[in-house]
Amino acid sequence: MEIIIRRAEVSDVDALHTIFSQPRVIWGTLHLPFISRELWHHRLANPTAGVTHLVACVDGVPVGQCHLQTFDTRPRRKHAGEIGMAVHDDWQGKGIGSALMTAILAMADNWFNLLRVELDVFADNEPAVRLYKKFGFTVEGTAKKYAFRDGEYVDILHMARLKADSGW
Ligand SMILES: CC(C)(COP(=O)(O)OP(=O)(O)OC[C@H]1O[C@@H](n2cnc3c(N)ncnc32)[C@H](O)[C@@H]1OP(=O)(O)O)[C@@H](O)C(=O)NCCC(=O)NCCS
Repeated sequence: MEIIIRRAEVSDVDALHTIFSQPRVIWGTLHLPFISRELWHHRLANPTAGVTHLVACVDGVPVGQCHLQTFDTRPRRKHAGEIGMAVHDDWQGKGIGSALMTAILAMADNWFNLLRVELDVFADNEPAVRLYKKFGFTVEGTAKKYAFRDGEYVDILHMARLKADSGW
């Protein structure tokens, strides 16, 4: 299976709307059910400053996405970035998340020269926590009852990967 990583385009709106309508993706992220297609169109057409938004495609169709937010206008946070990712429910466990993570960390390390990449993940999201640990992220703390999800409050882990940890 060939996975092509490229920048997200406005024409990916339907694929991204589909990915973020998947039950497991909603469970693992801070998105609500019944997300609107228009919201994704707006996001893609009016990208937030400092956001690099990538998709992973199989047979030309985006099946996963990730983004990296940098803080170019905040001098004291210029060394840091935040990432988030999601893979279509039908495509999880097939290496898509790893391919996206490899690509976004290469951007962080080799092009933005970030010292620190951060993310938040639900504490019970085992596949995601394992993926992040595999790529050098460590748990820096827990935020108790951080978000409400499907009828209950859930904790999140703050995780980060320092470039120094990867041999820099
Ligand atoms: C978390 C997520 C992005 C991982 O993407 P993926 O394409 O499934 O990941 P990969 O197939 O590349 O697997 C990478 C690693 O994740 C872990 N992993 C993947 N699926 C797993 C599962 N079902 N159970 C436990 N670990 C799992 C493994 O450590 C795996 O590495 P390995 O194959 O070398 O053991 C994906 O499952 C997803 O989108 N989930 C729903 C949305 C979400 O939770 N996003 C993260 C928000 S913080």
